[in-house]
Amino acid sequence: MSPDQEHHLLERAARIIDKAEAFVITAGAGMGVDSGLPDFRGDHGFWQAYPPYARLGLSFVECANPQHFERDPAFGWGFYGHRTNLYRSTVPHEGFHIIRRWIERNQAEYFVVTSNVDGQFQKAGYAEDRILEVHGSIHWLQCHSPCCHTIWPNDETIEVDETSMRARHCPRCPACGQVSRPNILMFGDRSWLPDRTRIQEHRFDRFLADNADQRIAVIEMGAGSAIPTIRATSERIGWNLEHATVIRINPREPDIKAPHISMPCGALEGLRKIELFLK
Ligand SMILES: NC(=O)c1ccc[n+]([C@@H]2O[C@H](COP(=O)([O-])OP(=O)(O)OC[C@H]3O[C@@H](n4cnc5c(N)ncnc54)[C@H](O)[C@@H]3O)[C@@H](O)[C@H]2O)c1
Ligand SMILES: [Zn+2]
Repeated sequence: MSPDQEHHLLERAARIIDKAEAFVITAGAGMGVDSGLPDFRGDHGFWQAYPPYARLGLSFVECANPQHFERDPAFGWGFYGHRTNLYRSTVPHEGFHIIRRWIERNQAEYFVVTSNVDGQFQKAGYAEDRILEVHGSIHWLQCHSPCCHTIWPNDETIEVDETSMRARHCPRCPACGQVSRPNILMFGDRSWLPDRTRIQEHRFDRFLADNADQRIAVIEMGAGSAIPTIRATSERIGWNLEHATVIRINPREPDIKAPHISMPCGALEGLRKIELFLK
């Protein structure tokens, strides 16, 4: 992209933000990259983040499998316990706050839709009732069986041996005493309880109905095409609602058809650049 083209693109993006009456923030794993979190793009990306699984030859799809909680809970909790600790200690990058300032500046409505399970939007101060976590959250637990429909906050301390990636302690279900698991939709998952996500979906549907005639800025960041749920959400809003424009920020797969805006860079870099063009 030439400097002139970039200038024009950023001016357009800034105009969309400037005029927005509502924001939809859609985010995939790439949103966490600038906070220092790994995405799992391809086996290579996953194994770089988790060398022990490279040694075992296990892919992300094989690790994110609910069967481990039945067959070998310490192994299942090794992966999710490690990620729980990682996400708890992560500080959301400045990009989360840049968008919050835009929302406040415009006194706009907003909603976050994310496939991330890491709770980073809540941590950055976004309201719990304005977030849809389509794959659930690592910070909530459910019974592995499940024996009941209860979903409870994960207050457990989970120590993990980083060589074997096995947990030294596996959280249990208070109702039946069996092992519990994160309330996350895994691969081939038949026991995930969708109740918490369904309530969030209901709130999001209402938000869209209430704001359908507003000028909506959809800011999509770090959403991959391998599991395209988040990209499809942005596109659905962008194509179906007359006054909605998608700004897709992604260093490797930024493509989206005009009039939507494609920014081939990282989330934080893209947000900072747009901010420079906001009056
Ligand atoms: N933090 C988390 O909760 C977390 C982490 C990893 C994976 N996951 C989930 O697992 C599934 C698959 O994960 P995946 O890693 O293959 O995700 P993915 O397919 O969404 O890929 C990551 C995307 O982020 C982009 N990206 C990389 N660096 C970026 C940056 N600095 N700024 C913006 N975008 C950037 C990549 O180009 C890619 O398109 C998804 O459902 C994902 O949400 C969640
Ligand atoms: Zn139970």
